[in-house]
Amino acid sequence: MDLRLRGKRALVTGSSRGIGRAIALSLADFKVDVAINFFRHRAPAEAVAKEIEARGARALLLRGNVADEAHVSRMFDEIESAWGGLDILVSNAASGVLKPVSELTLHHFNWTMDINAGALLPLVQHFLHMPPRGPRSVVAVSSLGAIRAIPNYTAVGASKAALESMVRHLAAELAPQGVRVNAVSAGTVDTDALKHFPNREQLLEESARRTPAGRLITPQDVANVVVYLCTEYASMILGQTVVVDGGYSILA
Ligand SMILES: NC(=O)c1ccc[n+]([C@@H]2O[C@H](COP(=O)([O-])OP(=O)(O)OC[C@H]3O[C@@H](n4cnc5c(N)ncnc54)[C@H](OP(=O)(O)O)[C@@H]3O)[C@@H](O)[C@H]2O)c1
Repeated sequence: MDLRLRGKRALVTGSSRGIGRAIALSLADFKVDVAINFFRHRAPAEAVAKEIEARGARALLLRGNVADEAHVSRMFDEIESAWGGLDILVSNAASGVLKPVSELTLHHFNWTMDINAGALLPLVQHFLHMPPRGPRSVVAVSSLGAIRAIPNYTAVGASKAALESMVRHLAAELAPQGVRVNAVSAGTVDTDALKHFPNREQLLEESARRTPAGRLITPQDVANVVVYLCTEYASMILGQTVVVDGGYSILA
């Protein structure tokens, strides 16, 4: 399959593990060079870099906190000096405080908002400053918690709702500059992130049982849609949040 992505250059934030890793490797399968961003754990990021190079694409390792504008600025400087520009930005890195509302402080809330929603702003601003070379694409990774109530998920859910709204506003404003912006919203995916859920086992069991498609979605299921949104076949999809959940959210 030729998706006409060969030679494009992508940054995938939080791509050392989980869904971000699957997105990075899937882009590399189509010969896209990938900048791998991580924050705390270098070894898994190095392993992803090796896997990207084994697929015949270039890899660039970028350590940085997406919630720190100085880090984002430095990462884009590194991309520009290595590659001269960037065609695809995937804003995937996320974190957040999982607590019942009774224990959630404003500090927890703002910290979560900064990483999951606020970070998109400097990422996109620096992306726009890169020398353009044809159409460009931004994809943000969201979750069903943006539109559904999930136990302990108040801060993260609100941050993802803000993210999806930003995606619509950015899409409208940036379309004349040849930049398409979309989001992919995933149902439950069994990654390290779920280790922080107090009710992990129950969440996995219930998600699998309630999913019409008959199984949990995988990082690869999400990556497939992200890759598609980066191609010219999706050139008239702007400002959308595409749900990848095996049908979970269509049930009453
Ligand atoms: N798992 C799910 O069920 C699920 C469902 C829907 C949506 N999502 C979304 O999918 C995305 C990826 O989730 P995941 O489950 O794959 O997460 P994960 O396995 O926990 O991986 C998180 C990745 O983000 C990086 N990261 C964390 N904080 C960062 C920061 N401040 N700056 C830069 N990088 C940072 C981590 O790097 P280090 O280890 O180096 O810190 C790691 O590479 C997130 O946006 C999440 O909200 C997940």
